[in-house]
Amino acid sequence: MDRDELKKMSAEAALEQIKDGMIIGMGSGSTVIHLINLVVQRIKNEGMDIMAVPTSYDTAQWCISSGIRLTTLDEHPSLDLAVDGADEVDPNLNLIKGGGAALTREKIVGSAAKLLVILVDESKLVKNLGEKAPLPLEILPFAITPVIRRLQGFGEPVLRLSKKKLGPIVTDNGNLIVDLHNPKIMNYSEMEIQLNNIPGVIENGLFIEMADLVYVGSEKGVNILTKL
Ligand code: 5RP
Repeated sequence: MDRDELKKMSAEAALEQIKDGMIIGMGSGSTVIHLINLVVQRIKNEGMDIMAVPTSYDTAQWCISSGIRLTTLDEHPSLDLAVDGADEVDPNLNLIKGGGAALTREKIVGSAAKLLVILVDESKLVKNLGEKAPLPLEILPFAITPVIRRLQGFGEPVLRLSKKKLGPIVTDNGNLIVDLHNPKIMNYSEMEIQLNNIPGVIENGLFIEMADLVYVGSEKGVNILTKL
């Protein structure tokens, strides 16, 4: 099975968390798209009624074109549930996120939810965060050069470049993304505070003690990880 099929399996299993009438934080990325497609089937087949707070332009467009009603954190500051993907998951359900550059809104939406459910394929599981994926940070463009200098003390910072447009990618918030390769992470919570204390850093992709459940699609089936 390829990774995308495993992602779809995790989304199918996590569908059990979505109940009629819920206000849901909708994460970003290819795994969440699978979930959106499945939710749409339930809306059509069962008349289920939900509303979503999207974490990115991309997710908002998928919801709109699929017929999922959108709402905002201004209207619903407390969400029943948030569902999202991740780039890495450690055994304590700590995460690295931001592969799709949506980390800031994802963190805000995830923290506004009563339950944060993460969907991944088994390749995302790691012993220690930073093992496979770089740690993304969202940076105010005005501060990019001094921030990159400061980040050199934490790993190897690389400005994320666009694939189809010349120059750096620009987030949905009008900022830049720096990927910190080989991050020197000793203590997750301390690192999170230190990174966010650098003036110009909007947010970092460490999601510590936020996830409640992780659905892991694997060759053997879907494993549900819960907080220890
Ligand atoms: C976007 C994210 C995504 O959830 C993460 O990159 C996983 O993406 P995918 O589901 O496509 O593997 O954090 O900012």
